[in-house]
Amino acid sequence: MSRRGLVAGNWKMNGLIEVADALVGGILAGLEQRKGKNVCEVLVCPPFTAIQSVGKRIAGSAVKLGGQNMSEHKPGAHTGEITGEMLTNIGCSYVILGHSERRSMHAEDSNLVARKMAAAYRDGLTPIVCVGETLQERESNKTLDVIREQVSAIFPHLPADTAKRQQLVLAYEPVWAIGTGKTATPEQAQEVHAFIRQMLVEQLGSDIASKIRILYGGSVKPDNAAVIFSKPDVDGGLIGGAALKASDFLAIIDGFPG
Ligand code: PGA
Repeated sequence: MSRRGLVAGNWKMNGLIEVADALVGGILAGLEQRKGKNVCEVLVCPPFTAIQSVGKRIAGSAVKLGGQNMSEHKPGAHTGEITGEMLTNIGCSYVILGHSERRSMHAEDSNLVARKMAAAYRDGLTPIVCVGETLQERESNKTLDVIREQVSAIFPHLPADTAKRQQLVLAYEPVWAIGTGKTATPEQAQEVHAFIRQMLVEQLGSDIASKIRILYGGSVKPDNAAVIFSKPDVDGGLIGGAALKASDFLAIIDGFPG
């Protein structure tokens, strides 16, 4: 496969500096033990207040740093907001956008998420755009309609540059599987990932589509990671709860060699 696996930890609103430092210390120690092995790309997304401290810890390692959200605006009068440039300034290379918790609790719609994506590119970040259906939508057979609406919104806002388009990361996170212990079956995940890939082929051409990584997120744990990651269109995972324990996060990383 031409796509390198990516396992990303979304720490959400967890981690005072000492806790975050200890967590990343554990991850670094585990990766050190795996030196020389075929390890996928590893990303941690701490809360804003811990990014800098975690960034200092991972300096010189292969672990990448990301934010969990950012503003679509340029610097200015936006109290409480943060620009992508502020994230790159403290060492981030990625940013998670449109997480279902942002969509549902902070009224972010697909258009806003797409504008944030454009701002992330402008500020030198690789966006990880999250999409996913609720349980009610799945049960009323609307899953693919919801995914189509959420993914379609990004195309008008993508930069024209091929290299930047190939960098894009999408994350399929069924809302009903997030933090619930319920995971999509590998087949359910693959069905949606393949659907997204097909949309990418239609909009961007097969060459670019074959390079874009699509992560799965939603109750990924050490015991289910490898089987989910074995599906052809699943290129890694966006990990919430299990990313808060170094040994679990490392075991999930082991589920995606290379
Ligand atoms: P979870 O969260 O692994 O705790 O289900 C995933 C996410 O929200 O990104």
